[in-house]
Amino acid sequence: MDTNDYLLKQSAKIEENIYSNVPEQPEWIYGMLREYISRGGKRIRPILTLASAEAFGGSEEDALPYALSIEIFHNFTLIHDDIEDNSPVRRGKPTLHEQFGIPVAINSGDALYTVVWSTLLNADVSPDQFHGAMKLMVKSFSDVVNGQGTELEWYRTGKVDVSEEDYFRMAKGKTGSLIGVSCRMGAYSARAPPEAQAAMQKFGEKIGLSFQIRDDVLNLTADPSNYKKEIGEDIKEGKRSLITLNLLSKLQGPSKAYIAELLRKPEKTEEEVQEVISLAKEHGAIDYAGAVSDKLVEEAKEALNVIEDEQKREILLSLADYMVRREK
Ligand code: IPE
Ligand code: MG
Repeated sequence: MDTNDYLLKQSAKIEENIYSNVPEQPEWIYGMLREYISRGGKRIRPILTLASAEAFGGSEEDALPYALSIEIFHNFTLIHDDIEDNSPVRRGKPTLHEQFGIPVAINSGDALYTVVWSTLLNADVSPDQFHGAMKLMVKSFSDVVNGQGTELEWYRTGKVDVSEEDYFRMAKGKTGSLIGVSCRMGAYSARAPPEAQAAMQKFGEKIGLSFQIRDDVLNLTADPSNYKKEIGEDIKEGKRSLITLNLLSKLQGPSKAYIAELLRKPEKTEEEVQEVISLAKEHGAIDYAGAVSDKLVEEAKEALNVIEDEQKREILLSLADYMVRREK
């Protein structure tokens, strides 16, 4: 099956099942959350969970509670992340805090966070299986929050000269870990052996990291007509990405200090944003990030050798390609 058809078919399954876990009342809390969830997004995490379950002979039905819980957690992080980053647009629509104000958006995010757990509680699994799942998921969720916290600390203290090592650690937490656990929980629900579960987690972490780097590249280079966020927004918010740190590492003296200062500045003009993007292009920082993203995805694919069923392995390989070749 064509990857796009597969994605459509699988995201329809997520769409069909995700709302039953979101309470109806109070309408002024959960109404906006339903609308938010219905904006879609790629649903790549839950799709990976279902595909990983099938790769080890498991059923989608058994994997579904984990898939949904992870997608809901992801949606919760987006609501709070957009407040933290002061982002106006998400999935082509105004962010919740833009629409309803920050206090309401924080509270609705909190409400959605409780749905993460109620969804998991609805899973029909043994207490042992439940406890094992909780351990894996709590670890990953805390990695996400810690990665995000590290990034926020860089903003708060104005740290722009981040090392690659620190950047990778932060991004592995913020993005890699959740995609890692998405893949792992599929294998877990299929009761795959621990080594196979670990391999799937590694696969997910690497494609997750690759995906984040690709996301940062797209933020500066995407075609504005089909990009659902603002081009260059990351520069505007002074985000420390592989691109900005590679650029800084290639600059020296006053030009380095100038760009570092620019990234730290809370307000930037359109010209300043464009200036950073042009310099990043000129110095090959965007190409560098693209190449790192490609290399990570190739490394990730090797982990999939743990899957014996060739057809099922192919599906995960094509999902990995989809994630890094995407244009939006
Ligand atoms: C956005 O994730 C945040 C990142 C970790 C890059 P997605 O790109 O998966 O967002 P949706 O769910 O498709 O909107
Ligand atoms: Mg952010």
